[in-house]
Amino acid sequence: MSERANFGSKVGVVLATAGSAVGLGNVWRFPFMAGHNGGAVFMLVYLGCILLLGIPGMVSEFIVGRHSQANAARAYGTLTNRKGWGFIGLLGILTSTIILGFYSVVAGWCLQYLGTSAVGGLKGDSTYVQQYFQNFSSDPVKPALLGVAFVFITHIIVVRGVRNGIEKASKLLMPLLFILLLIIVIASCSLPNASEGIEFLLKPDFSKVSNKMFLEALGQAFFSLSLGTACLCTYASYYSRQTHLLQSAAQIALVDFLIALMAGLMIFPAAFSVGVQPDSGPSLIFITLPRVFQQAFSFLPALGYVISLMFYALLVFAALTSTISMHEIGTAFFHEELKMKRPVAAWIETIVCSLIAVFCSLSVGNPDIQVMGMPLMDFCDHLTAQYMLPAGALLTSILVGWFASKTLVREEFTNWETNGPKSLFGVYLFCVRFIVPVCIFLILMHQFGVI
Ligand code: PHE
Repeated sequence: MSERANFGSKVGVVLATAGSAVGLGNVWRFPFMAGHNGGAVFMLVYLGCILLLGIPGMVSEFIVGRHSQANAARAYGTLTNRKGWGFIGLLGILTSTIILGFYSVVAGWCLQYLGTSAVGGLKGDSTYVQQYFQNFSSDPVKPALLGVAFVFITHIIVVRGVRNGIEKASKLLMPLLFILLLIIVIASCSLPNASEGIEFLLKPDFSKVSNKMFLEALGQAFFSLSLGTACLCTYASYYSRQTHLLQSAAQIALVDFLIALMAGLMIFPAAFSVGVQPDSGPSLIFITLPRVFQQAFSFLPALGYVISLMFYALLVFAALTSTISMHEIGTAFFHEELKMKRPVAAWIETIVCSLIAVFCSLSVGNPDIQVMGMPLMDFCDHLTAQYMLPAGALLTSILVGWFASKTLVREEFTNWETNGPKSLFGVYLFCVRFIVPVCIFLILMHQFGVI
């Protein structure tokens, strides 16, 4: 147990969960998903998914984890007396390993942008910035190395248990990220024609509703909340009996949503202002932001320089708190279930993720590394966010809602009838039994054209 309880403090562990949620999913993935799917309508469905499916789903994962105090596979296997349910945990471990692979590539891009903005190399017109991203991301060597470097940095932190320091740093850096985003939002909204971007994100145009939008919004909500990967379950296994599960879930979801909203308000006004298509895909933030830093702060370029540097540094930090959580899931499993020493367990996770990162990175510039008509990188993103995460959350809610003992679930939800929200237990149970499984099922059917 001593090796398990390696989080700095009980408050720190909830903070660590928020750190896992807030990351590139909010700042990088949310804007291009919203851009793809018509902006404001996507935003509405996304918000609905967070409230109706995300928060109950988070609480369920917390319950599984805190009850067992064990790694994901054992946690799912011990919630009821049927060990077979442990496969949900295994699915989560697989999902988070794949996500860590491609996520590190994007985190590596952020490292590159941090370095380049430090030497003032991101200055130029839109074409230059666009070309810069294309040349860099399709290079066969550098982005792959940076992605692997990111997995290694994560590895070191997971093995050495310096998370204590990371938690302390988060207390300062997360609010700083928030403030900085706010400054950039204001700057971006003051660019010429910015109002078009604000409208795009906030004024729904229902003609843009599409079949795939629902599943993409669902996938984005789950990805952003780290839901369905057993990550929340793993972190909750370190929670105390006093941790208020519903309140923590609601707070984390709120912060996560606000950061995504701010990222949207930072990117779209700028994209419309500099004439970049809002649906330009994963490159969106990398080609719009350098222009914002230049144009919006042209009255004081030194300020633009400092802000851009701080922004990329904080983005790297936010990505790191997420990659640590993904890494921890596999490491805890190999260590506890397969009885490996913790460093060995971490190495296995690192090597597998590094390999995925290298192939994902190579697929960006190489048309030969494709799966089902998309580059491996996009395929991994698509597969995990749109199928594996919803499947993980669906199975978790069926397990908690229908197969676990109701007394156990109630005790966890109400913290043994102490500080938990007793009056909301019925609402929670109804969501977990009916709303969550039915909605995920309907969305999946809709995607396949069955309904
Ligand atoms: N939620 C993280 C983000 O938004 C990504 C993540 C997904 C982390 C799944 C852990 C598990 O960046």
